[in-house]
Amino acid sequence: MTGAIEPHGGKLVNRILEDREREEVARKAPELERITLNDREISDLELIAIGGFSPLEGFMCRDDYHSTIDTMTLKNGLPWTIPVTLSTSRENADRLKEGEDVALADADGEILAVLHLEEIFPHDKEKEALQVYGTTEDAHPGVKKVYEMGDVLLGGRVSVLKRPEHKDFTQYRLDPCETRALFKERGWKRIVGFQTRNPIHRAHEYLQKCALEAVDGLMIHPLVGETKKDDIPADVRMRCYEALMENYYPKDRVLLAVFPAAMRYAGPREAVFHAIIRKNYGCTHFIVGRDHAGVGNYYGTFDAHYIFDEFDPQAIGITPLFFDYTFFCKKCGSMASYKTCPHDSSDHITLSGTKVREMLREGKTPPPEFSRPEVAKILIEAMRQR
Ligand code: ADX
Repeated sequence: MTGAIEPHGGKLVNRILEDREREEVARKAPELERITLNDREISDLELIAIGGFSPLEGFMCRDDYHSTIDTMTLKNGLPWTIPVTLSTSRENADRLKEGEDVALADADGEILAVLHLEEIFPHDKEKEALQVYGTTEDAHPGVKKVYEMGDVLLGGRVSVLKRPEHKDFTQYRLDPCETRALFKERGWKRIVGFQTRNPIHRAHEYLQKCALEAVDGLMIHPLVGETKKDDIPADVRMRCYEALMENYYPKDRVLLAVFPAAMRYAGPREAVFHAIIRKNYGCTHFIVGRDHAGVGNYYGTFDAHYIFDEFDPQAIGITPLFFDYTFFCKKCGSMASYKTCPHDSSDHITLSGTKVREMLREGKTPPPEFSRPEVAKILIEAMRQR
């Protein structure tokens, strides 16, 4: 391969206004009708602005929205699996007019951006739930979010005046243009991306290191946007990663950076979405293991692998690296997977998330074959503080 991998759609989007243009829009923005964004919408706005969601330049209009839901492509045919939408109530929508600008503010009333409102259209919640999440049950956290959203969607490009402020993980907040520059600087041509929303355990480490054996660099990219309440908070997860980076990872081959997106729990569709976004960050490869982005029993263990067969690999661009279920095998004396280990599952050390949480709550350290002791210590401490 020559040069860096192309962003999705060919161009890295940048919707952040600067200088004169910024001043001009900022001057007019307070006079505009205003919509207040929730946390998810703010993180989507940021990802649009910095090109993480390239080629999207704003919140989806009607054709892209339905095309994403129905055919897993944008209306121009590019693969895209998750709607990126801005919703509001009918009453709010009645104040707005297509073709006009709308100010987008945070909960403190600070105007972050202007939406160049192109279309106001109905939010097809049931269809979105069924097609994107595979269920209409509101017990599914992603579906619940969809149902809580407004009944009307507002589509159009955005121009960002002020990036959302973050006080946490500041040294790990790297935009796609920055990770791309870093990869270039380090001379990495083949880079594997790793998405995660859970504290790192030995299986994660194994996947990452197996993948790293075959490429130049690894980008560990924990998601730090909105997650469901019972997921471990991002600051605790990041402390676990820091401990591992310190003790078990080659610093010149691994980049730890945060992914500011909200979790959707859309399983297979979200795996494709995660892969495409990591391509925008400059990764050439992406790890997809068991039940990627899954929740409960909504998806088959390897549905997130099979979904890639529905796309032309060239159109996806980034290469998925599929991993079978991994664990420590006592007979092998090492980490392994069902693909590489011939032994019986009674020889495998596997723990359910529930079991691990129970152990940590009781102050018990999970076996070192499951979790590095440095990580277990941080998790036990965090449980105690809660
Ligand atoms: S996710 O919601 O971000 O996918 P998690 O942080 O648990 O959740 O997983 C990160 C990545 O590691 C995903 O690709 C997932 O499929 C993979 N993974 C996690 N545990 C295992 C395991 N035991 N075996 C194989 N893959 C795994």
